[in-house]
Amino acid sequence: MKAIVAVDLNWGIGCGGKLLQMIPEDMKFFKEKTLGKIVVMGRETFESLPGKAPLKDRINIVLSKSEFFKDDRIIICRSLNELFHEIEKYDTDDVFIIGGESVYTQFLSYCSEAYLTKIENTYLADKKFANLDKEKTWERVSISDSKNYNNIQYSFLKYVNNQLINYNK
Ligand SMILES: NC(=O)c1ccc[n+]([C@@H]2O[C@H](COP(=O)([O-])OP(=O)(O)OC[C@H]3O[C@@H](n4cnc5c(N)ncnc54)[C@H](OP(=O)(O)O)[C@@H]3O)[C@@H](O)[C@H]2O)c1
Repeated sequence: MKAIVAVDLNWGIGCGGKLLQMIPEDMKFFKEKTLGKIVVMGRETFESLPGKAPLKDRINIVLSKSEFFKDDRIIICRSLNELFHEIEKYDTDDVFIIGGESVYTQFLSYCSEAYLTKIENTYLADKKFANLDKEKTWERVSISDSKNYNNIQYSFLKYVNNQLINYNK
């Protein structure tokens, strides 16, 4: 499985249930990477999607422990183990962990790669992603040129996990 995330300079990812910034090219990148694939998210992130609707043309898996949370358009998993069982039927490279903080935290060590959009700004944030530059097992393998949207600089980075934990075991 792979993680995909947009972070600011402090590795912040969200505030008040929302993203820190919307950058069209980042949205496009996210869509290109995940289209036709399986996206795994927490209930909070699902409820923050536009119109609280599943992401189109993707298999949406949402984690929630709440028995009151029901939605026929998505697959709901009530625990980590239930999720691991559910994704056994897919190619692991097609499974994308798309947030938020609690889900990234639980799944990061099972991810082989992380696609990061680094926004060269700092925002007020109440949710964060692990600082991969300080994680011994993670290595940055690529970085794009710096890009600009409305005076916001950003770039696309890729990290690989050199000590992947296999969730099938
Ligand atoms: N920058 C980015 O790329 C990015 C991407 C995604 C999200 N975000 C941001 O991240 C924030 C949301 O993150 P968050 O940590 O608050 O929420 P979250 O991870 O999206 O969802 C948390 C919820 O997921 C469920 N959950 C988590 N682990 C579970 C498990 N092992 N078993 C069963 N259910 C589980 C629980 O739902 P129940 O309470 O229903 O049990 C939990 O309350 C928002 O600000 C959002 O905009 C940013």
